[in-house]
Amino acid sequence: ALISLRQLLDHAAEHSYGLPAFNINNMEQILSIMKAANEVDSPVILQASAGARGYAGESFLRKMVEAAIEQYPHIPICMHQDHGASPKVCQMAIRSGFSSVMMDGSLREDGKTPASYDYNVEVTRRVVEFAHAVGVSVEGELGVLGSLETGMAGEEDGVGAAGKLHESQLLTDPDEAAAFVEATKVDALAIAIGTSHGAYKFTRPPSDDTLSIDRIREIHAKIPNTHLVMHGSSSVPQSLLEQIRQYGGNIKETYGVPVSQIVEGIKSGVRKVNIDTDIRLAMTAAIRAYLVEHPEEFDPRKYFKEAITAAQQLCKERFEAFGSAGQA
Ligand code: G3H
Ligand code: 13P
Ligand code: ZN
Repeated sequence: ALISLRQLLDHAAEHSYGLPAFNINNMEQILSIMKAANEVDSPVILQASAGARGYAGESFLRKMVEAAIEQYPHIPICMHQDHGASPKVCQMAIRSGFSSVMMDGSLREDGKTPASYDYNVEVTRRVVEFAHAVGVSVEGELGVLGSLETGMAGEEDGVGAAGKLHESQLLTDPDEAAAFVEATKVDALAIAIGTSHGAYKFTRPPSDDTLSIDRIREIHAKIPNTHLVMHGSSSVPQSLLEQIRQYGGNIKETYGVPVSQIVEGIKSGVRKVNIDTDIRLAMTAAIRAYLVEHPEEFDPRKYFKEAITAAQQLCKERFEAFGSAGQA
């Protein structure tokens, strides 16, 4: 059944678990996530970016999620707009049937230039007004995502600030978070604590202080009823990178966010954990391996099946690690 983000995350908070929010663009990704959720009995957040709409088209996205709801009636599903760049985008998503939208006013409409606090409050407040009127949840974002190690936002994915960032921008300020929530009434808040989008998060293996878990605790203490969201939460498993390289891919050395640190984040108040890159890597590794090992095959179902199995395994591991397994 379709359910709002607020309902899902209220349950997660009450039972102290976190929910992965996986990005979807095509049927195979949706199938991977739903099969995994069905296997371990987890609620699901399916999120679609503007890029997803550009790829699949609004109708296909909507109908594919409807199909997931129909095929798995016992699993609560939230259909979430990821990184809405303007109130207009969020309005369109709501009209298209999304039960939750993110208004990312931390960046200007170009999705690159850091925006002022006042701009962020103004656009987010407007979205909350029309979204709440129809029972749709809203996620806002305060602070600019970027690595504390490099000062850089994630690259190559079209989401993230351009240029080197100051440490003050890279960690969400707890008092400002409290004021922002008070002014906008968002249900969930994406915070900057040292993660960034895409595969190239860290140049060295992460240590215990790669993320600012303390900052999560400080923010959670100020806004206990607003659900905290961690973007850029792919773990970039080294085994997948090795498999991609072994079968002809070319991905340079890079590291993601260890699952153990995400679990620490969940213990400190994070409820929604955004993951896109890891599914991309799992599918690519599986398809590369299959095509190299079966050069005579040309039926797309054969290699997509491998991709689904690999992504399903990854999703299952995240549902289990974050504690959402058994909560559907
Ligand atoms: O936060 C960004 C997500 O990974 C979506 O990426 O804009 O390429 O669909 P995308
Ligand atoms: P990753 O690139 O780490 O998967 O993050 C995805 C994300 O935050 C989507 O909003
Ligand atoms: Zn994101």
